[in-house]
Amino acid sequence: MMNKARFMIRATLKPILLACTLAASSAVFANTPLPNETNAVSVGTVNCTTSTCHGAVTPWDGSNVLQNEYTTWSRLDPHARAYHTLLTDQSKRIAEKLGLKQGAHNAKECLDCHAHNPTQKLRGERFDITDGVNCEGCHGPAEKWIKSHTVEGTTHADNVKNGLFPTSNPREQARMCLSCHQGSESKPMTHRIMGAGHPRISFELDTFNSIVPAHWRVDDDYRKRKGTPDNIKIWALGQGIAVEELLTHLLDPKRGRDGLFPELVLFDCHACHHPMSKDQYSSRTGVGPGRIRLNDSNMLMMRALVNVVDASGSKAFNDQVVKLHQAVSDGKGDAMMEARKLLEDVRRYNKQFENRSFTNTDLQGVMKALITEAGSGVFSDYAGAEQAYMAISSIATGLSKRGALANAKEVNVKLAALRKTLANDEKYRPADFQKELLNLRNAAFVQVK
Ligand code: HEC
Ligand code: HEC
Ligand code: HEC
Ligand code: HEC
Repeated sequence: MMNKARFMIRATLKPILLACTLAASSAVFANTPLPNETNAVSVGTVNCTTSTCHGAVTPWDGSNVLQNEYTTWSRLDPHARAYHTLLTDQSKRIAEKLGLKQGAHNAKECLDCHAHNPTQKLRGERFDITDGVNCEGCHGPAEKWIKSHTVEGTTHADNVKNGLFPTSNPREQARMCLSCHQGSESKPMTHRIMGAGHPRISFELDTFNSIVPAHWRVDDDYRKRKGTPDNIKIWALGQGIAVEELLTHLLDPKRGRDGLFPELVLFDCHACHHPMSKDQYSSRTGVGPGRIRLNDSNMLMMRALVNVVDASGSKAFNDQVVKLHQAVSDGKGDAMMEARKLLEDVRRYNKQFENRSFTNTDLQGVMKALITEAGSGVFSDYAGAEQAYMAISSIATGLSKRGALANAKEVNVKLAALRKTLANDEKYRPADFQKELLNLRNAAFVQVK
């Protein structure tokens, strides 16, 4: 019915709006549908788990995939617990406060992220919601590829054509992970959910990738089939796609508002949630005191990247971020127009990140920019400092993997000290963070090869 209604509206407006319709539909079709957005049936984890498929206890020799993916996921992966989290007392309290009488474990508002949650119609006979974020939650509903993907001669590209989600593509991976770890149009995270007691969520793709126990192995065979994963590209697109999502959310007249107010989940939590005596104002964003600030932590990371991929454009990018801050928080100018302009820039740069092979010099440039900015007090807010820490550690890991960081051990010790200053967001002191950064700077730069 919905399709029909949509078609009718389109058909009526076609003669006048042809250009817009084209533009809008190309934007829609440019992205691969996320695992929760396709019309294919989800067959259920049990179909992947026999010992000759992905349920071996130890990795197989001579197979191109490990075949113990299920064992790794079910025993070690936090995603296998995501549904069970909805049965805890904390979840019960959250559901109660939100008036979800059916309970968190039956509520779409929770299941969309704490499980792979297709509509009833799209659940196969053996689908089990209690599996939580299961194989198909990341790899896409398997109806159209479950049989063919094991047939001799089938390539990765064939599988993707049949609906396997392209998890090894950094851009698509970023969209997929962020759809739950930041929220998305089809799986919204709101300040109302946070206000009911949901933990603050923060995410950095490369760091989080390294926390999940890997159920794949990057060896020669993997590289031949899928290329070599570049953790810096993954980091960069993780940042860029997060900014795209924040701006799209802000621009959405329905999602971006909550009564008289904008949707507060888009703003820096600690702009509001801090004691009045804390005296934390900084002029960094170009916004006056006493204003709420957009959460610009991912924009700050992008700025360091733009500096590397387009040095001559980086001032304009920075100015556009400031214009958006001022329009949103100080009322200087049209916030929606500034958000739209920034979104265009962000999309253009994301393309550049995708197409670039980041060199060691690039990485050192980004790391230097972050450490220098942090040293001058740019990260007075927790969310920015947290992203800077994860970025610096991702880049250091990247450099070290490439054999371009001589004293990885010492850098690790300094990174651990830096992480300590972030242990509790409510007790965060920018001066401590800055001090540890200076120590790290000395360790990282004297010896970067
Ligand atoms: C369908 C939603 C969904 C998708 C897609 C998803 N996650 Fe998660 N992820 C969750 C939920 C929910 C949790 C919390 C699990 C719990 O403890 O209940 C989680 C937990 C995690 C954790 C543990 C966090 C911690 O604090 O220990 C990591 C790491 C993680 N995810 C990384 C990723 C990465 C990387 C991707 C993409 C490759 C991804 N996730 C895709 C929903 C998702
Ligand atoms: C937009 C996706 C999203 C939605 C919607 C969502 N969650 Fe979560 N939730 C997450 C992620 C991601 C994490 C893990 C955060 C981390 O550790 O980084 C999480 C963590 C949690 C935790 C803490 C788990 C732990 O191990 O400490 C609880 C409890 C929770 N969610 C309950 C709920 C309930 C109840 C709802 C519904 C009202 C809900 N969530 C809706 C994504 C979501
Ligand atoms: C949180 C998201 C997530 C979940 C859940 C998940 N995977 Fe993966 N999986 C990934 C990512 C990311 C990769 C690495 C990128 C790639 O190779 O596609 C991957 C890679 C793989 C590979 C490819 C290995 C190779 O050499 O090409 C297989 C096979 C696989 N997963 C099977 C499974 C199975 C089976 C399950 C369920 C038991 C599962 N995955 C659950 C995200 C996930
Ligand atoms: C514009 C200011 C503002 C921003 C930004 C903001 N909040 Fe809030 N928050 C509030 C207000 C107002 C309340 C309601 C306080 C009350 O009921 O006493 C609240 C309540 C909460 C509560 C419930 C606390 C309680 O005592 O029950 C949590 C948790 C919370 N917010 C988390 C967050 C997180 C996480 C973010 C960032 C993603 C955030 N907030 C961003 C203003 C804000």
